[in-house]
Amino acid sequence: MKVKLILNNKAKTFDVSPDEYLLDTLRNHHITSVKKGCNQSTCGVCTVLLDGKPILSCSILTVLLSERHITTVEGIQKEVDRISDYFGEEGADQCGFCNSGLALTIYAMKKELKNPTDEEIKKYVVGNLCRCSGYQAQFLAIKKYLEDAL
Ligand code: FES
Ligand code: FES
Repeated sequence: MKVKLILNNKAKTFDVSPDEYLLDTLRNHHITSVKKGCNQSTCGVCTVLLDGKPILSCSILTVLLSERHITTVEGIQKEVDRISDYFGEEGADQCGFCNSGLALTIYAMKKELKNPTDEEIKKYVVGNLCRCSGYQAQFLAIKKYLEDAL
């Protein structure tokens, strides 16, 4: 089946099977910044933005997304670099496995929430798991990024 997606602001047609998930469509077409982790809607490493909101690409069928806007880190590279700088300053550098999904979630939060509380920030990123940090340095980096960007 042919499905046209607006991927990083460019229309692109994909040939997909009816039961194909967006994660596989993207990775099959060399968008490998989107990672496959649990493949069960649990870890968040497959996060992309659907019309600006974070979603788990392992959990949504590509055929349902005709003409919808999908954003990966390739589409917001300058902002991802900015986010990375904040993480570096807090000593919260992420591994290459989780950082793309988390950066997209943080970017969406910046767009959606104005002056979020600490609890709102934590709630927004709750779906992006990290197996190796205590989350505190990440949280401080996110908070500074949001404050400076507002
Ligand atoms: S791979 Fe999608 S949530 Fe883990
Ligand atoms: S830094 Fe990537 S899973 Fe912890």
